[in-house]
Amino acid sequence: MKKPWVALMIYGDTGSERNALTNENYRLLADAFLTRGFGVTSVLYNDNLAPTLAQELLQFDAVLVWVNPIEGGKDRQILDALLREVSSKGIFVTTHPDVILKIGTKDVLFKTRDMDWGSDTKIYTSYEDFCGRFPTSLRESGIRVLKQYRGDGGKGVFKVIFNAKEHTVAIIHAPAPGDAKIISFDTFHREFELFFNNSGLLIDQEWHENIRNGMVRCYLTGAKVSGFGYQEVTALYPTSASTPLACVPPSKRYYFTEDCGLFSDLKQVMEKKWAPELQEAESIASHMLPVIWDADFFIDTRPDRDDRKKYQLCEINVSCVSPFPPSAVRHIVEEVSRHIQSKAMA
Ligand SMILES: Nc1ncnc2c1ncn2[C@@H]1O[C@H](COP(=O)(O)OP(=O)(O)OP(=O)(O)O)[C@@H](O)[C@H]1O
Ligand SMILES: [Mg+2]
Repeated sequence: MKKPWVALMIYGDTGSERNALTNENYRLLADAFLTRGFGVTSVLYNDNLAPTLAQELLQFDAVLVWVNPIEGGKDRQILDALLREVSSKGIFVTTHPDVILKIGTKDVLFKTRDMDWGSDTKIYTSYEDFCGRFPTSLRESGIRVLKQYRGDGGKGVFKVIFNAKEHTVAIIHAPAPGDAKIISFDTFHREFELFFNNSGLLIDQEWHENIRNGMVRCYLTGAKVSGFGYQEVTALYPTSASTPLACVPPSKRYYFTEDCGLFSDLKQVMEKKWAPELQEAESIASHMLPVIWDADFFIDTRPDRDDRKKYQLCEINVSCVSPFPPSAVRHIVEEVSRHIQSKAMA
């Protein structure tokens, strides 16, 4: 039988030395593919390379893509078109752009707000709608979190705090928590208008005080949990209740296998209930689920909590999940093998 070939596609400027086979985020995965008898190639992506890649990618059986929603200031429009074309020619592409649109954009938080993992979440699909409804939403609770439609690394994620006495708002941008600014309501609205350009939207999520308990990332390969990540301090973590505008810098994330007893309840509910509910809600067949994706949760540790609400969804990542737990490597290789074999038998 012909040796199967896999492309590990990562972002790189033209002439960049980045290489997935040696990069520490992908090296273990590349080695595992080689051990299983696959051919593996690192492929760099940037928009200028898209025309040549349209042909080059056709020689692979599978193309595994790690490119953020925003890279070098550019969105994924050209990349997504390229991946759709390659996929339509029978190559296994993961994550498929259609799946990214369904579960990898922040509106998934609104679409699944009624699931047990959901919390108070609103959506504004136009600037007028945002100006009309957000002030009430903010006044009611005093603190909200706004998220742009597609982003990563906290870009376009803002903690918004209302000061009723001064009638001002304080905004803290997740990637730069040290630069909180206090502005008037009018200025605030105008600053957020740009998020509605190009069919953009804003998600308005409740502020989760449970961020103080750290966050758990539940990593999945297809519909199965393949590992966990736990980070004690993440973005927007306040130094203390009396200093709401000061945030602690994020700490390191630690990885655990899918069998880690600390999160066995999360594995159970994710595989048995939430992943199937998500698939059902978004009409995603199991074979379309990404080979590596994660759902990130706040953890409610109060003894009197409703157990169904112990884990509350912060967001889902599907387009560029790296690094990932070493335990996921074996699952990814098996999942890719299964896809290639089922295609060969079709
Ligand atoms: N509702 C919330 N309550 C408290 N903190 C939040 C909330 N939403 C987000 N955060 C904080 O902001 C960070 C960034 O938010 P989020 O994960 O939604 O954005 P992202 O840009 O997709 O990030 P990533 O690069 O991790 O995928 C989270 O890791 C968390 O620390
Ligand atoms: Mg994200």
